[in-house]
Amino acid sequence: MRATAIAQPNIALIKYWGKRDTANNLPAVGSISITLDGLHTRMTLSDESAVAEDVLVVNGKEDPAMLPRISRCLDSVGGRDRQRLRIESECNNPIAAGLAASASAFAALVVAADAVFGTSHNQLTLARLAGRASGSAARSLYGGFVELDKGDADIELQTLLEASAWPLTVIVAITTAGPKPVSSGDAMELSRQTSPFYGRWLEQQSEDLDAARSAIAARDFGRLGAIAEHNCLKMHSVMWASRPPMIYWNSATLACMQTVRELQADGLDVFFTIDAGPQLKAVCAPEHAAAVREALTATPGVTEIMQSDLGEGARILVD
Ligand code: DP6
Repeated sequence: MRATAIAQPNIALIKYWGKRDTANNLPAVGSISITLDGLHTRMTLSDESAVAEDVLVVNGKEDPAMLPRISRCLDSVGGRDRQRLRIESECNNPIAAGLAASASAFAALVVAADAVFGTSHNQLTLARLAGRASGSAARSLYGGFVELDKGDADIELQTLLEASAWPLTVIVAITTAGPKPVSSGDAMELSRQTSPFYGRWLEQQSEDLDAARSAIAARDFGRLGAIAEHNCLKMHSVMWASRPPMIYWNSATLACMQTVRELQADGLDVFFTIDAGPQLKAVCAPEHAAAVREALTATPGVTEIMQSDLGEGARILVD
C-alpha cells in the first residue's frame, strides 16, 4: 500500500480566528481563502516496511514532535485499528512561520490516507477531518476562492470561484524564517479569554464575509482588497489587545505594509494580508506582480520572496 497526495497552502482573506469547540476544533467564525499553487506539501504514506508504529519523516528528517497530531488525524480517517504507516512529507515552504504549512500538510494527509485505507470519503468529509487537525487545513481541500461556513453541527465548504476564473498572484515577503513563538491555536484561545475586542470580532464577521463574497462574485479587486485588509488588521487588533499581548509582526512587516500603501497610491492593484507570523502576503493583479515583487524585495528587512498564482485543491498524485 502506498499513496502520494499533494496539497497547496491557502491564505485567508477573511480570517479564521477563534474556536467554538476546542475538543473538536470547530471554528467560531466562517472564513474565505485563496488556495495557492506555488507552494506545496507532498505526502507519501506507505506500509511497505511493515512498521509497528507510525514514523514521520519531514523533508528527510524524522519528526517525533509532530507525530502525535499526524497519527490522530490518520486515526480519524482510517479508524483506531488502522495499519501503522511510514509518513513522508516534503514541503517547499518554511514550516510554522505563518505560511500555512500545516494547512497543506493535513490536507495532503487526509487525501493520501483515504487512498491508502480505501475509505472513499467524499471531499467534504475529508475537509472536515483535516479541519479537526487544523482549522485552516479544511480549506486546502478546495481550489480557487474558498468559503468555509462555520455551520451548525459541523463546517461546510464551497469553492466560490475557480482559480482560473479570476487569476491573481500572491507575493509573500518573508521577514523571519524561524518557527513562530506561539501557535495560532494557543493565540486564539488567549484572544478568546482575554481580548476585550474578541466579542466584536465574532459579531462583525458575517458582515465581512458578505462583503468579500460579493466582491469576489463581481471580481471587484478594490472592494476585495479593502475588506481583506480591514479583516486582517481587525484580527491583529484582537491579538494586540490580549493579555499578554500577541504581536506577530516585526519592523519589516510594517515596512512591507508601507510599501504596499505606496504601490496602491501609484495605482497598482495590490493589497496585503498577514497571518499568525511576521510575513506579509501581497495579493495583486498578475500584470502588477513584477512591480510588487521588486518593491517588496527592496523593502528593508525582507529576507526572501516567494511568488504563487492560485491553485487547485488537495489531490492524489499518480506516479
Ligand atoms: C491566522 O488553522 O493554524 O492563519 O485550527 O488551531 O490549527 P488551528 O489553527 P490554524 O489557524 C489559522 C489562523 C490564521 C487565519 C486563517 O488561516 O484563517
